[in-house]
Amino acid sequence: MSDQRSDSTAINAVLDAIEVKKFGGELSEEQISSVVAGYTDGSVPDYQMAALLMAIFINGMSREETVALTRTMADSGERYSFPECVDKHSTGGVGDKVSLTALPIVAACGAPVAKLSGRGLGVTGGTIDKLESIPGFTFEMTERQFREQIERVGMALTEAGDLAPADKAIYALRDTTGTVDSLPLIGSSIVSKKAATGAGFLIYDVKCGSGAFMKTPEKARELAELLVDLSEALGVSSSALITDMDNPLGRAVGNALEVRESVALLKGEEAPEDLARMARAVAVRLLQLKDTPDPERAVEEALTSGAAYAKLCEFVEAQGGDPGFLESPVVSGSVAEVRAAEGGYVERFDALGVGQAALVLGAGREKKGDPLDYGAGVEVLVRSGERVEAGEPVALLYGEKNVERAEKLVREALRLSEQPTESAPAILDSL
Ligand code: URA
Repeated sequence: MSDQRSDSTAINAVLDAIEVKKFGGELSEEQISSVVAGYTDGSVPDYQMAALLMAIFINGMSREETVALTRTMADSGERYSFPECVDKHSTGGVGDKVSLTALPIVAACGAPVAKLSGRGLGVTGGTIDKLESIPGFTFEMTERQFREQIERVGMALTEAGDLAPADKAIYALRDTTGTVDSLPLIGSSIVSKKAATGAGFLIYDVKCGSGAFMKTPEKARELAELLVDLSEALGVSSSALITDMDNPLGRAVGNALEVRESVALLKGEEAPEDLARMARAVAVRLLQLKDTPDPERAVEEALTSGAAYAKLCEFVEAQGGDPGFLESPVVSGSVAEVRAAEGGYVERFDALGVGQAALVLGAGREKKGDPLDYGAGVEVLVRSGERVEAGEPVALLYGEKNVERAEKLVREALRLSEQPTESAPAILDSL
């Protein structure tokens, strides 16, 4: 077919698709693949794709349409195949170091890890940024290097790169056209990238609360069910946890600070209980998907023997990072204390506010491409359920930028009650 003919076929397909979706109809798999191929190769213009995305946003998609969209986007670029490997995906949170902790544990238990990672988005941190706080660490590798590292070390992390390019193009358009928060578009976007990475076993950690995409347990469960269903439809064995994001996970928020807290947990040093519980739960779930006998015992052994920490060091070194940094992660030397203005019981240390404080201190990006201060961030010193007295230190701010703004955000994030409160559960639901 000439280029002109294929351009007009794609444009006819998108115009037909807009007509169907604006009246709530259903698209065929062929229509979906023509439109996606046309948008990815540039023959469908942004304005037509944006009109279609808005019609989908308003009228939704059937399960069949969503599966077809997921498969088409997964097939739009390179597809790796690691059927023996495990992967995990978090929908994004504040202080979320589950990948840094649970994955070395499962790799130490003999389940190979082939993980696709992302950068931070707004207040939600990204595993790539956290690991890049380690001098020399790189995500740049070919498929061959990725495969060799999995075989040699049992654990490798990569960036989307050439995987699912259709999702990359469509996500960028959604981001600027108010069409991000649509369940079928979010589900197909996440699962297409994971399916293209090719791990055979996946756990989704769907965060729920102020610092997450999904604000209510009902919405989080709906997304979790969709992610598991789409993954299974594409041949990936998967399960999901729904976890709290009204509070940050653990105490540390910020790249090198989070590496430091993860190392403490893996070395068996003092570490926050919610993080320890989450890391164990995710590791056990992944080992269960792989049919590992007695996964709880395997996880404990990996932690107490030092095998999980040794695996983290081996993995960091394999990706160019300095494992010496793990022994003593460098965080900002500029530290300010925030003290409670009044006494009370901690209802929550609001994840969104703490995440915003870490971001303005330099741990996150206010706009795309902003440089990070890897040593910046926040450490919360009190947790939900605890009693605080007026004048007691409640948080440490690391970094030199916007300290006053960060202090105000942290103060507002600390929600106190006169009545005793309960500590927030880390895991809210599972499927
Ligand atoms: N993360 C993704 O990868 N895609 C979405 O649509 C939303 C969050």
